[in-house]
Amino acid sequence: MKKIIVLYDSWHHNNTEKLLQGCSKKCQGKVTIDLCSLHDDNAVPDLSSYDAIGFASGVYAGRMSDKILTYIKDNQTALTGRSVLFFSTSSSGNTKAMKNAADMIPGSTVKGMFACRGWNTFGPFKLFGGTNKNCPNEADMQKAADFIMETMAE
Ligand SMILES: Cc1cc2nc3c(=O)[nH]c(=O)nc-3n(C[C@H](O)[C@H](O)[C@H](O)COP(=O)(O)O)c2cc1C
Repeated sequence: MKKIIVLYDSWHHNNTEKLLQGCSKKCQGKVTIDLCSLHDDNAVPDLSSYDAIGFASGVYAGRMSDKILTYIKDNQTALTGRSVLFFSTSSSGNTKAMKNAADMIPGSTVKGMFACRGWNTFGPFKLFGGTNKNCPNEADMQKAADFIMETMAE
């Protein structure tokens, strides 16, 4: 069975963490997914036994989290030749921030990117209870799980 690890940072509403936890349950028995939060500068385990390394966060001011970007920048050499995946939750649900992060590791093989919307109460959105209130939802988790299973089957 293929095994991946996802290094993530999720602090606004834990949207990205919820997405990852939900999809890793759905992948049980098909792909093993270990999760490692970089938020509190936790130690990253040895990555050598993983078939792919995932990076995941919300999008903040158009970028993936500083913790993720710093990790990528500091480990460019170690990530050379590795297969990588990206995940993000955001207000827009687009892939732009992940593409910019992927550009930092041209020596890696980007297997794919998964984006979905996440609950956002930043700034004026708070006054109305935020946008994308129930996201990520069950359907997003299933789509993320399908993305992982398809990508890792290749
Ligand atoms: C400080 C801040 C800045 C944000 N900037 C963006 C942005 O530039 N584009 C966007 O689509 N969403 C933006 N969002 C919304 C978050 O990306 C979204 O809520 C995301 O799901 C948060 O993920 P998390 O709960 O895992 O931290 C921002 C949210 C915060 C708190």
